[in-house]
Amino acid sequence: MLQVKDLHKSYKAGKITYEVLNGINLTVAQGEFVAVMGPSGSGKTTLLNCISCYIPFDKGHITLGGQDLKNLNEESLSKVHNKKLGFVFQDFMLLDGLNVLDNIMLPRIISGDTSEAMEQRGNELCDIFGISHIKNKYPAEISGGEKQRTAVARSLINEPLMILADEPTGNLDSKSSRTVISSFEEAKNHLSATIFMVTHDSFAASFCDRVIMLKDGAVYKVLEKKTERGAFQEELLEAIKEMSGDVA
Ligand SMILES: Nc1ncnc2c1ncn2[C@@H]1O[C@H](COP(=O)(O)OP(=O)(O)OP(=O)(O)O)[C@@H](O)[C@H]1O
Ligand SMILES: [Mg+2]
Repeated sequence: MLQVKDLHKSYKAGKITYEVLNGINLTVAQGEFVAVMGPSGSGKTTLLNCISCYIPFDKGHITLGGQDLKNLNEESLSKVHNKKLGFVFQDFMLLDGLNVLDNIMLPRIISGDTSEAMEQRGNELCDIFGISHIKNKYPAEISGGEKQRTAVARSLINEPLMILADEPTGNLDSKSSRTVISSFEEAKNHLSATIFMVTHDSFAASFCDRVIMLKDGAVYKVLEKKTERGAFQEELLEAIKEMSGDVA
């Protein structure tokens, strides 16, 4: 589904160049729920921004569903954004002036879709994510967890190849975080969605099939869930400890 090969990205500040991604290699398979963890500044958001083509990268290859994402023209780029990827942001990014159902349908409304099928899909997603009872409410009238479930439903309206999420539980209390993770699990189990989530939260990551640890812009370790969740979270915490104690 997603392949990242030898990805390099640097930022320039005046004459100084900061290497942020130093040759990242990773793959995500169809239907997988994968987390990326790593210390602040290790390049997690930069990696997501490269995959979503929001920023250009220096070297390497990214392929999504067989398509090379380098040097896309504007039309192909907006197709990738609107149809192939779904996004879930830390601060929800819901529009205050639209109700829950319209927020969910927004990516399709923007592409000019007014079909009955769209409305049906929007309603189905409300059912799947347990927000049908609030679909006529506005963002100011719903809870953090409900907002985030709305955001997850919206990310799926176009049946994307993959959902990209940057710290989706970052602003939430533990109960709402659990709701977001359940939404991703439902998306994976009922809609065969593929999810790529950046998180610093070992609890959230312990629900994933695989966790990729980044350190200093490179893959430090990949952990696969082979045990039950609690034991996997212990394993993750151990790896984080090892990573931070590891003097580079
Ligand atoms: N637009 C930019 N211009 C210059 N430097 C940047 C830019 N964006 C990020 N950086 C730098 O690149 C490094 C990686 O940033 P990034 O946002 O990818 O980290 P992160 O792993 O997502 O961290 P966090 O956990 O704090 O969100 C940091 O040192 C940051 O200061
Ligand atoms: Mg970040």
